[in-house]
Amino acid sequence: MSLLSAIIAMAPQIACAQASDIDAGKVVAQSLCAKCHAIEAIGESPFLPAPPFRLIPDRYDPEDLAEALAEGMVVGHDAMPEFELPPEKITNLLAYIGSLKQKK
Ligand code: HEC
Repeated sequence: MSLLSAIIAMAPQIACAQASDIDAGKVVAQSLCAKCHAIEAIGESPFLPAPPFRLIPDRYDPEDLAEALAEGMVVGHDAMPEFELPPEKITNLLAYIGSLKQKK
């Protein structure tokens, strides 16, 4: 591979500096949220009362969501467990949830 084509191949990662945040956020979502919420761009939630993650950016300001996650999330619903996540996981999760919106 020439140097030029190597640079071209790397361009998408450079253009999207947050790709690693999004990937990490997906891992968090898979481990903590996916048993109830649909966390992909398509599909129903496994636990139907839980809204699919791709709808969340339309309903919530990302800052409100970050705060809710940081303080332990209680969404006024017994079915939703309380989470307290470290800031970096919140950033990752929000990056991932935000990325679902673009794919809509
Ligand atoms: C045990 C099942 C369960 C798990 C696990 C779960 N949720 Fe939920 N979640 C729910 C339910 C049920 C609702 C709907 C609450 C309501 O309508 O009041 C909800 C609602 C939400 C909402 C509000 C959406 C809205 O429109 O009101 C957000 C944001 C959310 N969850 C994020 C998360 C995140 C982030 C995780 C993982 C860290 C997670 N949830 C894990 C069940 C779950």
